[in-house]
Amino acid sequence: MRLVFLGPPGAGKGTQAKILCGRYGIPQISTGDILRESKAQGKLAPELVTLMESGGLLPDDALIALIDGRTKQDDCRRGFLLDGFPRTIPQAEALDAMLERRGEPLDGVIAPEVPLTLLIERATLRRTDKRTGQIYHLSYKPPPPDAILEVRPDDQEEVVRKRLATYAESTAQLLPFYERTTRLVKVDGVGSVDEVTERIEKAWQARKEQAAHNA
Ligand code: AP5
Repeated sequence: MRLVFLGPPGAGKGTQAKILCGRYGIPQISTGDILRESKAQGKLAPELVTLMESGGLLPDDALIALIDGRTKQDDCRRGFLLDGFPRTIPQAEALDAMLERRGEPLDGVIAPEVPLTLLIERATLRRTDKRTGQIYHLSYKPPPPDAILEVRPDDQEEVVRKRLATYAESTAQLLPFYERTTRLVKVDGVGSVDEVTERIEKAWQARKEQAAHNA
């Protein structure tokens, strides 16, 4: 199973990706997490750290090379879920080309839809446990008392607004891109985490049945 999660900041991509990857036994490949890990290890160039923390996108070539290498690793043999990649048309075209070369096309693109005001609230009140990487929310999913909480530098409200503008300018173009090739599965992303998971699984199942029927 080779899937992409496509959605704006705060849509719940990371939250849902962790649940589904656990259920299906495939790795979650989050470009944001990989970049934050590189930064923590001092391996991300300072100009890229600044770009990331101010809400811009990093260069396509670097991200394409990263995904090409990561999806060739052994744990991806049964599939993978890409969370945060692709984010531009050149990234999406490169992904299709690399998977086509391997004879392993993308199965689908899941797009959770959430209104703007909720996206801002979800991102600004997000907290992450430094030790486990678990994602919490101060209102909707309060962290346990022993969690060591971190706030992402790009979760300050003005940066969240910039990231949303970057999404609207570049990444939202991928919705019609994937819709044209019937790989897009839109899902209502409003509701509890469990409700959204259930909707994603139902929509994904329906898509697979439709694809089997058309084959
Ligand atoms: P990245 O880390 O990918 O950030 P993002 O796409 O902006 O997404 P977020 O992590 O903010 O949100 P999410 O949808 O995962 O939501 P979450 O599940 O955490 O990228 C960061 C940066 O890296 C980019 O800005 C860019 O600079 C760079 N980058 C990364 N990939 C790149 C690429 N391909 N090309 C170029 N640059 C790249 O949920 C959010 C909050 O809501 C949490 O607190 C959660 O608990 C809560 N929540 C989730 N679901 C629910 C629910 N159903 N109800 C209530 N609360 C919920």
